[in-house]
Amino acid sequence: MSAYKSIRNVLFKIEPENIHNALESVLQALGSVNIIQDILAKNFCYSNEILKNEICGLDFYNPIGLAAGFDKNATMIKALSCFGFGFLEIGTVTKTSQKGNPKPRLFRFKEEQSIQNAMGFNNDGSQKVSSRISKIYPYALPIGINLGKNKNISEENALKNYEDVLKDFLDMGDYYVFNLSSPNTPNLRDLQNVNFVQELFLMAKSHTNKPVFLKISPDMEIDEMLKVCEMAIQKGADGIIATNTTIDYSTLSAPKSIGGISGNALRIKSRAIFEELSRAFFEKTTLISVGGIDDAQEAYRRIKMGASLVQIYTGFVFKGPSLCKNINSQIQEYLIEDGFLSIKDAIGVDLK
Ligand SMILES: Cc1cc2nc3c(=O)[nH]c(=O)nc-3n(C[C@H](O)[C@H](O)[C@H](O)COP(=O)(O)O)c2cc1C
Repeated sequence: MSAYKSIRNVLFKIEPENIHNALESVLQALGSVNIIQDILAKNFCYSNEILKNEICGLDFYNPIGLAAGFDKNATMIKALSCFGFGFLEIGTVTKTSQKGNPKPRLFRFKEEQSIQNAMGFNNDGSQKVSSRISKIYPYALPIGINLGKNKNISEENALKNYEDVLKDFLDMGDYYVFNLSSPNTPNLRDLQNVNFVQELFLMAKSHTNKPVFLKISPDMEIDEMLKVCEMAIQKGADGIIATNTTIDYSTLSAPKSIGGISGNALRIKSRAIFEELSRAFFEKTTLISVGGIDDAQEAYRRIKMGASLVQIYTGFVFKGPSLCKNINSQIQEYLIEDGFLSIKDAIGVDLK
């Protein structure tokens, strides 16, 4: 049994949100101890020229990013960088702080290597989070800021709420993501319509030249999803991140009645949505794939399907700190086996 599996067996006896909070405290503390960071980075980071890429004007030393939701408050950036991620997405952050939904709201499914969460954008709010990021920005890795709407804001006021939260991060962050796809804020997913998305990206592009992405749900009708993404791209979106968690509970054997599912139970659905997206928009915009990726085979598959970058959340929880290193070293082998000189050449080859 690997060292992480033994540790995991102990950690998994603890209530999921409590263990996340405890780990956050540990990782936050590690962020100020350089020598430990150096040791971690030596053990868990992997770099090779073949994995490097420039995307949307940003330099990525590998294509594996941390998905939104793990570091909602930007408290763990330094420590998380030591685990080999090529980029980190902070948030979802809302304009004002929120407690999120009542607990328990985070559930683990060990056999199915899946998570169900109904967190509801619990976060410290944009003032606090931006002040934390400003202390370390610009940073060694690309940092994305994932932005959301406060729960108490009506649909009519949603645009202004997104504008307000974006404005608090204009001086920091390398890219932004509009999250309209969390299932845990009532009616948020209703904003995934062409009219709102049009206004949203026109607004964003009036404030910033940095890359702005739309993160979509895996539960939309394909035609609707394509229309919404088309509009976002027309109005200046630099790319699409697919997907958030699913509310298709048929993917788990004993699901809870709240929240969205991630991990293995999301993999097939997320991959299928990504394929549709890629057929429509590959080479027209930048595509980032997320959902059920926890090994090199799946990550490489999404890259060959058209993903310039991939992201991971649930796989990191189940497989631990060596995951990025394992994936990156294996992708390097796949690239060499397939005769590619750079990861750039593998992106989208299965579509051509
Ligand atoms: C506990 C938890 C919290 C999450 N919070 C957010 C969030 O705040 N914003 C967001 O865009 N996605 C959030 N996500 C979704 C992830 O970013 C990702 O899209 C999804 O989990 C699929 O990837 P995975 O299968 O690798 O976990 C969350 C996921 C989990 C498991």
